[in-house]
Amino acid sequence: MEIIKGSNGNYGLDISNLRAQTGLITYDPGYQNTSAYKSAISFVDGQQGILRYRGIPIEELANHSTFVETAYLLIYGHLPTKNELSVFSNYLNEYSLLHEDMIHFFHNIPQQAHPMATLSMMINSLSIFYQDVFDLEGQFTQNESLDITIARLISTIRTIAAFSYKKFKGEPFVYPRPDLRYCANFLNMMFANPVKPYEIDEEYVKLLNVLLILHADHEQNCSTSTVKLVGSSRVNLYASICAGICALWGPLHGGANQKVIEMLHWIHQGKIPVTEILEKAKSKSESFRLMGVGHRVYKTYDPRAAIIRNICMKKLIKNKKLDPLLEIALELEERILHDDYFVERRLYPNVDFYSGLVYRLLGIPTNMFTVMFAIGRMPGWIAQWKEMRDDNSRIGRPRQLYIGAEEAHYIPMEERRI
Ligand code: CMC
Repeated sequence: MEIIKGSNGNYGLDISNLRAQTGLITYDPGYQNTSAYKSAISFVDGQQGILRYRGIPIEELANHSTFVETAYLLIYGHLPTKNELSVFSNYLNEYSLLHEDMIHFFHNIPQQAHPMATLSMMINSLSIFYQDVFDLEGQFTQNESLDITIARLISTIRTIAAFSYKKFKGEPFVYPRPDLRYCANFLNMMFANPVKPYEIDEEYVKLLNVLLILHADHEQNCSTSTVKLVGSSRVNLYASICAGICALWGPLHGGANQKVIEMLHWIHQGKIPVTEILEKAKSKSESFRLMGVGHRVYKTYDPRAAIIRNICMKKLIKNKKLDPLLEIALELEERILHDDYFVERRLYPNVDFYSGLVYRLLGIPTNMFTVMFAIGRMPGWIAQWKEMRDDNSRIGRPRQLYIGAEEAHYIPMEERRI
């Protein structure tokens, strides 16, 4: 079997012929040690807490880039020139509107609908209205329409998210404005209304850019793998992304950011001692887990959590006022870092531990936190899907270790016994 050399000291054993050579398959629950793809998009070193997009450290991008520039980097493989960025931004503006017939969908959504349900439904519905990436042979279509589809996805996810909030609030929709940049435009669509224009705060715009950059890609995580598995059947990009949004929704994945804030609220309102929470999380007789803690790959502090924690601390020092939930989060973190249970299992705060506290600061409602994660992850999903498409990869089809009955026979109803 061949050993394949990757970058940064990564090696992989090519087991694709293992079955043919030995009759064996591999067994790897949760794909803990299985790579189905070669990828050049993001690099994670879970032991050292390193994350890079196209080789660039996440810290540099968070400090110097914008979400739109980072999206371009992930999807097209290099930092854009001034001209490339301007073309990309123009595309984002041009394709920021939803088809007006889609607006009617919002009218029939119950007010209490979870925004992730609305988002996945709306993204899939784009394939009803825009059929750019369909092709009868099941092949992907030309690059120009793919660029439009990419721009439409990155831009309309923001419009859909803001419209679903307006629907929830019972306020009129605010349409995207071509004079505003991506993040400012989103905040304006969320918070402006006909009687109260939204005053754009550049500090908030910067914070939102940073959060979306941090969410933008994370190699072969659950939702990205879902996008690729679904996309490998050559279904259209909208359907593939819709599947990724559904995967992200779960509390073990992107849904954790909502659960963290709910957990902190619950601790705060019930005045529950932190010791009690930790014992609950450690107890094997309870299904409770500390949300925003632990990671499949990071066995040290998640570098994204470090950046967000830093933002929270800076705000804290500036405002001299402690969000009571941040106070609890800091106490929890301090205890986790010195508790044998968490230390032995190498469980540290992950990106979701502090992100909700910043979204809260921006005025984003708690049930929309995972939607924000999805907006951020959109370029990563697209980049990974595109890379898979460009590699002409095969349909995803894992094997199984069958443990059922060897051979059984049909029993007529009257002869069946429990
Ligand atoms: N609280 C308490 N115990 C935990 C936690 C936690 N948050 N996370 C893991 N453990 C324990 C787990 O019980 C197990 O203990 P033992 O070895 O005694 O059975 C051990 O640590 C290993 O856990 P695992 O579930 O086998 O690890 P995994 O790699 O399959 O799961 C995880 C990773 C992120 C799903 C898990 O750590 C978790 O449930 N965390 C809370 C949810 C969360 O914050 N998710 C967001 C992840 S980061 C953003 C993203 O990817 O979307």
